[in-house]
Amino acid sequence: MAILKIARMGHPVLSRPAEPVEDPTAPEIRRLAADMIETLEDSGGTGLAAPQVHVPRRMVIFFVEAARAEQEDASARLSEVAADAGVPLTVLINPEVEAFGQEMSLGWEACLSVPGLIGEVPRFTRIRYHGLDLQGNRIVREASGFHARVVQHECDHLDGKLYPQRMTDLSRLLYETEARHLAEAPDAAEAIE
Ligand code: NI
Repeated sequence: MAILKIARMGHPVLSRPAEPVEDPTAPEIRRLAADMIETLEDSGGTGLAAPQVHVPRRMVIFFVEAARAEQEDASARLSEVAADAGVPLTVLINPEVEAFGQEMSLGWEACLSVPGLIGEVPRFTRIRYHGLDLQGNRIVREASGFHARVVQHECDHLDGKLYPQRMTDLSRLLYETEARHLAEAPDAAEAIE
């Protein structure tokens, strides 16, 4: 296993669409997943997409702590939807995401490829997504709140998009170190990576 170098905004690998993974069970894909997991653990982030480690393939990894999943659900007032439980570390290959309704919510995001900054980003509140795991089994899930946000952020990387390109108000793009000046200061640790 190895900790991989992370591409930063401006590197072309982050701005072009990634290619599908042909065989999710291939040894090199298993090795890439293991290295991405080690890199994510080392960085303290919530998710990572293969293009961020200079591999232009459609694969993401992420997890959601239960406390965070509930947090954004509450702020989005999804009273009719049970708060998501946490999501264990998931390797998702060739993912497809679709919005489940048109409702969007704002939340703070960060990205390992955009170090030092955080931004407030609109995302679909509820989504369905599917993809394959490392055994080639199909994963199908519905997600809301923070879980839905993380998946949309990571899958955007596979289409060459970084979160600032999803922002509608660039006055809400901040240096993490200055975010404390905001009245409703986001805890930088709560913004996703
Ligand atoms: Ni990111």
